[in-house]
Amino acid sequence: MNKIKAPLSTKPLAAPDLVKMKQKGRAIAMLTAYDFYTARTLDEIGIDGLLVGDSANMVFYGEKSTLSITLDQMIYHTQAVSRAVKRALVIGDMPFMSYQASVEDAVRSAGRMIKQGRAAAVKLEGGEHLAPTISKLVETGIPVMGHIGLVPQSIHQLGAFKMQGRDDRSAEYLKKSARALQDAGCFAIVLEMVHADVAGEISRELTIPTIGIGAGPQCDGQILVTNDLLGLFEDFQPKFVRRYAHLAQEMRKACSRWLDDVKNRDYPSDDESYR
Ligand code: KIV
Repeated sequence: MNKIKAPLSTKPLAAPDLVKMKQKGRAIAMLTAYDFYTARTLDEIGIDGLLVGDSANMVFYGEKSTLSITLDQMIYHTQAVSRAVKRALVIGDMPFMSYQASVEDAVRSAGRMIKQGRAAAVKLEGGEHLAPTISKLVETGIPVMGHIGLVPQSIHQLGAFKMQGRDDRSAEYLKKSARALQDAGCFAIVLEMVHADVAGEISRELTIPTIGIGAGPQCDGQILVTNDLLGLFEDFQPKFVRRYAHLAQEMRKACSRWLDDVKNRDYPSDDESYR
């Protein structure tokens, strides 16, 4: 028998709703978005959260890392996403060097992300050393999502995009950081490319949800870069990316047909012209 799906509540989600979802054992699904129409489409399907990720620098601007995107660029994309969304929690990613130099910098940058970008929360990358910054942001009234494991803003220090938590020392550091971030007031933590067992341990210990990307099935929720899932970004495919479509291929096919039609004078037809 077909199950009748309960209609989705259209009430906008706030950061504490994600914690409630964990308490109720409900999986949390998040994707990235950088523009109005993608955000509106994903909001319509009932996505729980939209991260305006600094991955935009790679999958939107074609850079090799996330490092050079600016706070102004991130705010511009966050505004477009926030404008589109009715229900999903919109999280603005804090770009490299917008929060690292001082707590004051972090408060000013995150404040702009909320005031100008209209985000409902911010995300920042880093372990236990960020606890004082996170506490201050939370005291200021800004919900914060943490991000540990593979932290792409530290790519020059890490050397490569590689799995974290493989040895005891690295696993202990991740667990300690996760606890510190929860104690500092984060409402959720992204675990990126973390050993699946370590991610499972962290997820069971914390009361706030873990959102995994390449961190296995025991996380409380999952996030993917939408351009990866749709096959729009083809430069490389990490092991954890499941492609649900091949939109870059579809785009090439569709646009090649139009190109041929123009060259062969098959486009536009009479019906597509004004008289
Ligand atoms: O920038 C981003 O898209 C991210 C996700 C990979 C979590 O940080």
